[in-house]
Amino acid sequence: IPVDRFDLVIFGATGDLANRKILPGLYRRALAGQIPDGSKIIGAARTEMGAEEFRAQVKAAIREHVEPAKIEASAVKDFLAMLDYVAIDAKGDGGWDELKTKVRPDAVNAFYFSVAPALFGDLAERLHSRGIAGPDARIVVEKPFGRDLKSAKALNRELAAHFDEAQIYRIDHYLGKETVQNLMAVRFANILFEPVWNAQFVDHVQITVAETVGVGGRGSYYDKSGAMRDMVQNHMMQLLCLIAMEPPYHFDPDAVRDEKLKVIRALQPVAPQDIVRGQYLARGDEAGYLEDSEDPNSKTESYIALKAHVANWRWTNTPFYLRTGKRLRARTSEIAITFKEPPHSIFDEAEGEWRENVLVIRLQPNEGMNLKMMIKEPGPGGMRLVQVPLDMSFAEALGEEADITDAYERLIMDVIRGNQTLFMRGDEVEAAWAWTDPIIEGWEARGERPQPYDSGTSGPDDALMLMHRDGRRWREIRE
Ligand code: BG6
Repeated sequence: IPVDRFDLVIFGATGDLANRKILPGLYRRALAGQIPDGSKIIGAARTEMGAEEFRAQVKAAIREHVEPAKIEASAVKDFLAMLDYVAIDAKGDGGWDELKTKVRPDAVNAFYFSVAPALFGDLAERLHSRGIAGPDARIVVEKPFGRDLKSAKALNRELAAHFDEAQIYRIDHYLGKETVQNLMAVRFANILFEPVWNAQFVDHVQITVAETVGVGGRGSYYDKSGAMRDMVQNHMMQLLCLIAMEPPYHFDPDAVRDEKLKVIRALQPVAPQDIVRGQYLARGDEAGYLEDSEDPNSKTESYIALKAHVANWRWTNTPFYLRTGKRLRARTSEIAITFKEPPHSIFDEAEGEWRENVLVIRLQPNEGMNLKMMIKEPGPGGMRLVQVPLDMSFAEALGEEADITDAYERLIMDVIRGNQTLFMRGDEVEAAWAWTDPIIEGWEARGERPQPYDSGTSGPDDALMLMHRDGRRWREIRE
């Protein structure tokens, strides 16, 4: 879908996210011919420098973060020509008049706040009161969107003082992932799944986001956050919503977000015995969490597993098991929906091993789907049943067309198009905090320490028990 000519201002343009994701992503979109002629990307940050210096920084970022096959000299040159820079004082007056002269009211205006949330209010106030951002301007903000309900409400208020909800784009980059959007296509563009997508047929759901990296290098941020705030409140919650929500009446921003919100509100409080927290130990030369976090006494979790219940008509009694962690065995994210037994078996047990149907949606790596089915084992030996996967890798199935666009690229283009479907609404974020807050407060009140786990494993042993207790098993974590 084409986009209109735009002026995009990136606050925090010298920062890590801008250099690693936003600017290389915009370059890739330019290379794909998606950025209309006459568009401008204006870097804004505290550092005093000219546009030429900024271009040199962006050129280096492209070299470092774009795959070599996509670096084309003429495309880089054209992209750099779109860039401009303003040194800005977020809390003072410096640079704002200059910025105003650069943002053209007759183009789509977007302002990306790639800065600490403490500055959101200052930026919003100046953009509005100085008449730089008009009623059609778009504001893009990043996580962390607060660290609890109270701070998230305060951020929402600061933005709402100057902009309408329809102008605010809260990024959760998981929603920009190809396969995450595919969850909606699979559910709502096929007749096959929806009739069995409920507690009557689904035994349980497992959502896994496993990472191999530790928190080294960002320990000071992470230690104040932990897996619950860093991953569960946002990314995993969004995955859960897309699996559990009712069909929206249309693929329309508020229709989709209304349904997600209902899921979050239906989440039951989680009992302490339904949560396992972990912290990785050192292995070989790799530091353990306590060294990475710089607080030798830290009680922050780098792993969490929990059992959630969506208390509504569709899902009552179908548990959702969520787990995520750092320094695990493999980097893999997937959602597995395990179905119930057929109501009656016409085959004797002796004739093979019966296993339940499982639909696995692989988010990364090797995006695809896998439906585990029972069939007859080939051969003359009578009716013996065996489970086989109906396996589809999107890359193989779609070949060249499976252009798995980076999440940020897609989301930035959606901002320019003015489509909020893949962005979190303020009430969604608040509802998610309202669910996580009591859980975190409980740990703090009890002074609970996470359990140590060996790096390169599947996490703490108690996480296995969380499922064994219910007569179920986690799927293996592997690529
Ligand atoms: C970020 C978290 O939001 O998501 C990181 O802050 C995490 O801790 C990252 O590593 C995971 O994203 P992805 O796209 O690599 O799965």
